[in-house]
Amino acid sequence: MTEAKQKLGVLCSGRGTDLQSIIDAIGREEVDAEIAVVLTDKPEAFALQRAERAGIKAVCVNRKQYEDREPFEEALIEELEDAGVTLVVLAGFMRILTPVFVRHFAGRIMNIHPALLPSFPGAHAHRDVLAYGVKVSGCTVHFVDEGTDSGPIILQAAVPVLDGDTEETLGARVLEQEHIIYPQAIQLYCEGRLQVDGRHVRILD
Ligand code: GAR
Repeated sequence: MTEAKQKLGVLCSGRGTDLQSIIDAIGREEVDAEIAVVLTDKPEAFALQRAERAGIKAVCVNRKQYEDREPFEEALIEELEDAGVTLVVLAGFMRILTPVFVRHFAGRIMNIHPALLPSFPGAHAHRDVLAYGVKVSGCTVHFVDEGTDSGPIILQAAVPVLDGDTEETLGARVLEQEHIIYPQAIQLYCEGRLQVDGRHVRILD
């Protein structure tokens, strides 16, 4: 008997190129999953249009309409549960999730961060990388725990930081790698090949 496909709930705040890479990888049958819903926290997020163009349910849960984080997250949880989501995929979602959300989907939330964690966590990774003067940066896919960008690491990819880089040029180089490793990490999850042991994620053969 074949197992049921994972149902992804993808959360975005902006242009949604990471979302697009997942949509495209599913289209090429490199990821054996279905995107059940795309949620954004802002009505202007272009990710909504990418989802609609691909025939995927897209909903804005507008953060501005909620006074506090918890009712906002409860609304996110309700949308995700209504859609039957089994794996939450944070794709440029620029909000920190509280333990209420993280516990609800414990072990079933992935994030991509545009730096080589544990270096340069937070919302301004490229700026921080350039200010520090490191020669190598990259991206990290990790499971989400209750900290910020601190959960067990699934995959990473490195890129050089070049003289004269700006946040835009470095960001574009990193993004190319994001679009490769995020679909790969999701597919590993779908194949049941990610075994989490404390901080370590083993990739099973
Ligand atoms: C990506 O670079 C992603 O790694 C980053 O936001 C960008 C979203 O791009 N995420 C974070 O910084 C999370 N803290 P996109 O909207 O084109 O997918």
